[in-house]
Amino acid sequence: MRITVRHTWAFTLVILLAGCTYDDLETLGAPFDCDAFDASYGMDILPLVENHCQGCHSGSAPSAGIAFESHTEIALFADIMLDRMDRDEGDSQLMPQSGKLDSCSIARFRAWIQAGKPNN
Ligand code: HEC
Repeated sequence: MRITVRHTWAFTLVILLAGCTYDDLETLGAPFDCDAFDASYGMDILPLVENHCQGCHSGSAPSAGIAFESHTEIALFADIMLDRMDRDEGDSQLMPQSGKLDSCSIARFRAWIQAGKPNN
C-alpha cells in the first residue's frame, strides 16, 4: 500500500514537470509534439491557407484586395501573412479574424518561410 502511494506521488510529479516543459516550449513557438521542421507546402501550408484564409482572400473580390491562392501569391505575401497570424489574441489585425491559429500551425508557417518557401 505504501509503495503504491509513493508511486502515485512520483507519477504526479512527472505529470507536473511535463506540463511545465510543454508551456516553455510553446512559448518559443513550437509545442513539443509539433514537427515544424519538415513543413511542406502541399501538406501543411496550402491546407492551412485553404481552411483559414481563402474564405475571404480568394476569388474576384478578395478581402484587402489580396488573394492567397497560388504558390506564387502565398510565397509573395508569406511575411505579411505570418505577421497577421502571429498577432496577439484580441489584436484587431489578427488573422484569421475568428481567432488565433494553434501554435504548431504558426510554427510550421514560420519554418516554411525560413526554408525558402519551397513548393514542396
Ligand atoms: C473572415 C474574413 C477573413 C479571413 C478568414 C482572413 N482574412 Fe485577412 N483580411 C480580411 C480583411 C477584411 C482584411 C482587411 C482589413 C485588415 O487589414 O485587417 C484582411 C487583411 C489581411 C492582410 C493585410 C493585407 C495588407 O494590405 O497589408 C493580411 C496579410 C491578411 N489579411 C492575411 C490573412 C491570413 C494569413 C489569413 C488566414 C490565416 C486571413 N487573412 C484570413 C479578412 C479575412
